[in-house]
Amino acid sequence: MEIDAVATPPAGVEADLLAFSVRDPVELPPAAQELDRLVDGGLQHLIEDGELKGERGAVTVLHSLGRLPAHRIAAAGVGEAKHYDSDSLRTAAATVATRASDVGGRTVAWILEENGSLPAAEEARAVVEGIALGPYDSGRWKTRDDHPRRPVERLILCGAQVEAVAGEARRANAVAVWTNRCRDVVNAPPNECTPARLADWAAEIADRFDTLELESLGPDEIRAAGMGALAAVSQGSDNPPRLIVLRYRPREPAREGFVLGLVGKAITFDAGGLSLKPADRMEEMKADMGGGAAVLAAAGALAELEVPVEVLAVVPACENMPGGHAYRPGDIVTALNGKTIEVTNTDAEGRLILADALWHARGSGATHLLDLATLTGAMVVAMGDYYAGLFGNDPDWIEAVRAAGEASGDHVWPWPLHDTYRRYIRSSFADMKNSSEHRQGSPILAARFLEEFIGDGAWAHLDIAGTAYLERGRDDYYVCGGATGFGVRLIVELARRLT
Ligand code: BES
Ligand code: MN
Ligand code: ZN
Repeated sequence: MEIDAVATPPAGVEADLLAFSVRDPVELPPAAQELDRLVDGGLQHLIEDGELKGERGAVTVLHSLGRLPAHRIAAAGVGEAKHYDSDSLRTAAATVATRASDVGGRTVAWILEENGSLPAAEEARAVVEGIALGPYDSGRWKTRDDHPRRPVERLILCGAQVEAVAGEARRANAVAVWTNRCRDVVNAPPNECTPARLADWAAEIADRFDTLELESLGPDEIRAAGMGALAAVSQGSDNPPRLIVLRYRPREPAREGFVLGLVGKAITFDAGGLSLKPADRMEEMKADMGGGAAVLAAAGALAELEVPVEVLAVVPACENMPGGHAYRPGDIVTALNGKTIEVTNTDAEGRLILADALWHARGSGATHLLDLATLTGAMVVAMGDYYAGLFGNDPDWIEAVRAAGEASGDHVWPWPLHDTYRRYIRSSFADMKNSSEHRQGSPILAARFLEEFIGDGAWAHLDIAGTAYLERGRDDYYVCGGATGFGVRLIVELARRLT
């Protein structure tokens, strides 16, 4: 999407739709009052007749019939003032973009508020993200689609201070493009998106920027390196595993010695292994690589934006399958840090592959770790599809991740960790076990397990099981179900705040 910023009055702007936001109850903003004058009070009429609504997600379209260079005026509801936030605006922008697609429009102009309650840069960002993420279409594998949603080709931001936010708007667009690329990879079927193909995608990303460097280990190297946990999970599949390591070295790092270690779970299909999952919704387990895809896409975005923070992305990628070669409940495996793990449930595989990846990231120089993983079903039950669960060992690092999430639209909520939970993973035979027969606190158990493998230094863990992949649309700017690209925006925001 091309982004322009114009300071000229909106009445002179040419577009398929000229949009602005309205609150509930509706009151026309000053710029819209001027438009209303030019269309003979048509907007005011619609308000009086109760047709132009300020409800969140409502869009009212009025044809300008040649009175304006823009073909249509679109009033986009953002809801009541007391609930207004940047997500309201993302939702309104997404609805306008979807409507543009419905009427075959490719150019949208958006009038930013004057002295609105959001800072102008944040407002511009939200509009860009809503318009870029809203019309995303998950039906890429249809040979014939009667109603494909088409992206907006050009966004013209209008308003008095618009030139000051143009750069921020273009950056937001770049991040949104990477977010949609992440969604494509997560939505891809598991017969297409194998560990090897995920590594190919990482190689394509690395090829685009000379600040990125890729290293990818195959099954023999993984075993030889001592990654017994990753090797065990992957041994049941005919699709060989990969340990994907993508390094980003900015030309001029802002903080010498700081290395952001990003670790992303990439189970390209989680059948559960011999602890087989039930058939119901098993197809959604193609998205069990959402953390890994987000980490790789975010590395691409950081390189494109030239964010001056050194990054080490580590993505363990494999399938979790049953079969004659599969690892068994009862197996004891040795992780990269030398610790032994009794496998009590082969479906608790994410924590196993992350164990080796976290230790590898720390050993390769990461000073601050952040892992993203679709780790537990209980997180979906507990938090639903809006907040991801946040865990960690360092209050400042936890707060940095939380704040970046809140500012980016990838919302995360802090969960507790305490050493008392260590007993949940106590094993009679090995240093620890990977799951418990008790169903208590399973997201916390999983996080506590990971903590055994983080080495020395700050670490935060995001359980994105509920937010990476939506069973159904969220009635906001995630219009369709499926992959959200959760984490890409958060990581970029976090890295930018570190400079
Ligand atoms: N990938 C799943 C978690 C998951 C479930 C993600 C639903 C998204 C939606 C993970 O590997 C898993 O199977 N976790 C088990 C662990 C249990 C066996 C200890 C779970 O949470 O049920
Ligand atoms: Mn599993
Ligand atoms: Zn899994």
